[in-house]
Amino acid sequence: MGSRLAGKVAFITGACSGIGLATAELFIAEGAQVLAADIQDESGAALQRRFEGRLQYAHCDVTQPAQIQAAVDRAAATFGGLDIVFNNAGAGGQRGGMDEMTLEGWDATMNLLLRSVMCGTLYALPHLKARGGGAIVNTSSISALAAGYAPVAYSTAKAAVLHYSKVCAADLARYRIRVNAVVPGFIATAIFGSGFGLDRQASQQMAATLTERGGSLQPAGRTGQPQDIAEAVLYLASDAAGFITGTHLLVDGGMTVGTRASWDPTAARPVQEALGLTPEALQAMAQAAAARAALK
Ligand SMILES: NC(=O)c1ccc[n+]([C@@H]2O[C@H](COP(=O)([O-])OP(=O)(O)OC[C@H]3O[C@@H](n4cnc5c(N)ncnc54)[C@H](O)[C@@H]3O)[C@@H](O)[C@H]2O)c1
Repeated sequence: MGSRLAGKVAFITGACSGIGLATAELFIAEGAQVLAADIQDESGAALQRRFEGRLQYAHCDVTQPAQIQAAVDRAAATFGGLDIVFNNAGAGGQRGGMDEMTLEGWDATMNLLLRSVMCGTLYALPHLKARGGGAIVNTSSISALAAGYAPVAYSTAKAAVLHYSKVCAADLARYRIRVNAVVPGFIATAIFGSGFGLDRQASQQMAATLTERGGSLQPAGRTGQPQDIAEAVLYLASDAAGFITGTHLLVDGGMTVGTRASWDPTAARPVQEALGLTPEALQAMAQAAAARAALK
């Protein structure tokens, strides 16, 4: 138990699973009171019982602006104000690339991942202003930084979340409201299974499999866990980050930093093969270079 959020009230979307759940747990452990918004009513009710008096669950489909507004208002009414907003709820959205794209899929993905973030800010604004300031954290993704990590619509929405966080930070600084984004890498949650249409239980099982088998995907040597992201969100939301606004925190175990390829001959094998350089040819070149150096 800590006190880094003592006396603070937080609104968290997607709080019944994965990153949102880990963040709700950590926020409460650090002294906050939490309005947990999600569409999983059974899990939400269980969460409310588990943290009685410190957490309230609200059914809130973030594709429905009126439901976001009602949940945000309820947070402020229940706990006497609002200090922190974590716009986090999400799912995979429209699958695939342009061959699979539909207008409906595109719009639904943008509403789920982007408009929801704007609405979370818009409806929280009067409450944060009334408090004299606050902190907003939005969940982006490494798919915002480069292609290849997620479908086209999802990646585009997450990139927009990054830029939205910046322009909002510039706009809301005059109200002492900080806005930042967290950029998760590959985190073992139910999102992958639910993206394939699996039920919640099977999706959680898939998250456990990812933890067991996904370590080699990032230099850190292990799969990211929801708690890794929760710690970053806690930092951005807390007064310790009081001078930080309009930026993002990348939490990906090094997944996007690249490989050791330029100096590790084993890791560079694909590049060597593209250049037609066999291990024997490389050895011969090294020997020739050594011979030239010895002649000097
Ligand atoms: N897991 C990863 O590797 C990863 C990487 C980058 C970004 N993210 C992002 O992190 C966020 C959280 O995802 P997660 O990995 O914890 O997945 P998760 O499936 O464990 O949690 C997502 C939560 O959002 C809720 N949700 C989905 N649609 C909703 C809606 N319309 N209204 C309200 N709630 C809704 C779900 O019920 C669930 O509780 C998402 O925005 C996701 O895109 C995840």
